Amino acid sequence: MILKKRLAAVLVIVLTFQVACYYDNEEELYPDSGQPNACDTTAVTYSATIKPLLQNKCYVCHSQAAALGNVVVEGYANARQYALTGQLYGSINHSSGYLPMPQGGGKLPACDIATVKKWVDDGAPNN
Ligand code: HEC
Repeated sequence: MILKKRLAAVLVIVLTFQVACYYDNEEELYPDSGQPNACDTTAVTYSATIKPLLQNKCYVCHSQAAALGNVVVEGYANARQYALTGQLYGSINHSSGYLPMPQGGGKLPACDIATVKKWVDDGAPNN
């Protein structure tokens, strides 16, 4: 009798782990990962999204101090100016008629580009 109970207990434990492992895969844990809709552009703001992005990817050449090609995207007013002329989006999207940016680097991830597009489409607000 005791042996049967132990066997049952072991069986329960084994089954529990099997079920746990079965659901322990990327699709179940992170349903949006790898999907095109994983890019969330609903809460794009200049201060929290655009500025850090430009800081990471562009300031090395386009800060007030560097200003390569006389282009400065540091600071809201400067970023806004390039947003409104279409150059900010055109350059990172590698659209024809614009110099592809970041110069000498790979194209930005699609989500970064979509994020910038959202901000530009919103009218480049200072939020
Ligand atoms: C390695 C340096 C470097 C990086 C990084 C870089 N740029 Fe540039 N960028 C340049 C240079 C140099 C020019 C001027 C090229 C010329 O006039 O021939 C330029 C020009 C531009 C222009 C004017 C384009 C046009 O069509 O007239 C824009 C807009 C621009 N950059 C935006 C960006 C943005 C946004 C980023 C970040 C995603 C970025 N750049 C990253 C070097 C860089």
